[in-house]
Amino acid sequence: ATGTFIVGGNWKCNGTHDSVEVLVNGLNAGTIDANVEIVCAPPFVFLNQVLDTLDKSKFSIAAQNCWIGDGGAYTGEVCANMLTDLSIPWVILGHSERRSLCGETNDIVGTKVAYALSKGLKVIACVGESLEERESGTTMKVVEEQLAAIANVVDKTGWKDVVVAYEPVWAIGTGKVATPDQAQEVHAGIRAWFANSVGADVASSVRIQYGGSVNAGNCAELAGMEDIDGFLVGGASLKAEDFVTICNSAK
Ligand code: G3H
Repeated sequence: ATGTFIVGGNWKCNGTHDSVEVLVNGLNAGTIDANVEIVCAPPFVFLNQVLDTLDKSKFSIAAQNCWIGDGGAYTGEVCANMLTDLSIPWVILGHSERRSLCGETNDIVGTKVAYALSKGLKVIACVGESLEERESGTTMKVVEEQLAAIANVVDKTGWKDVVVAYEPVWAIGTGKVATPDQAQEVHAGIRAWFANSVGADVASSVRIQYGGSVNAGNCAELAGMEDIDGFLVGGASLKAEDFVTICNSAK
């Protein structure tokens, strides 16, 4: 694996004040290996609660999205400056659920990533193909186009604050995890794309997470693959014990 193993917990649109309290207490009680970086992404409305209660010596915090540019008359949106104002270091951008359900195109995601970086946020940038795209043999083309839309607007030096999350859409929330070989193949392809399109230095330093039905039982084998540098976890990140197991799966 490249760099410090990095695991994200994307809580998505789940939780109540009380369930967040239980989850945070469970996470704080967990024993975390020294060689792992962990980022928890609660819904916006629970960010302050989590900021106040999560043990930040073990866990960092991310938002699950942010607005494309400056704040202003954008009802319902949350802008990057609001996150940095709360000392939230990370934001997840381009998640497939936002791409497919909220109309975020490759260009929108690229602009969001560039803007968030310009405001000092670190970004988990999500890419991945649908089942139809995989079956038609266009996986790498789709992923490369998603990455290129970011690379078009992000300076080469900006990639130091970006983690790429490869999440095949067909594996998200389905229980149908990519095999270690399937994931490794795309991760290696992503690294090769960086070498050809951005630079050898970025290719050898960028961290690539796998996401899609990662759980406490399948994480160890995936973590052993050469180009898997961490995970972005959805469902299993809502169970403290399972999430801690996943965090500690780095080889
Ligand atoms: O952001 C996380 C991914 O969408 C994976 O979700 O672990 O529930 O499949 P999942």
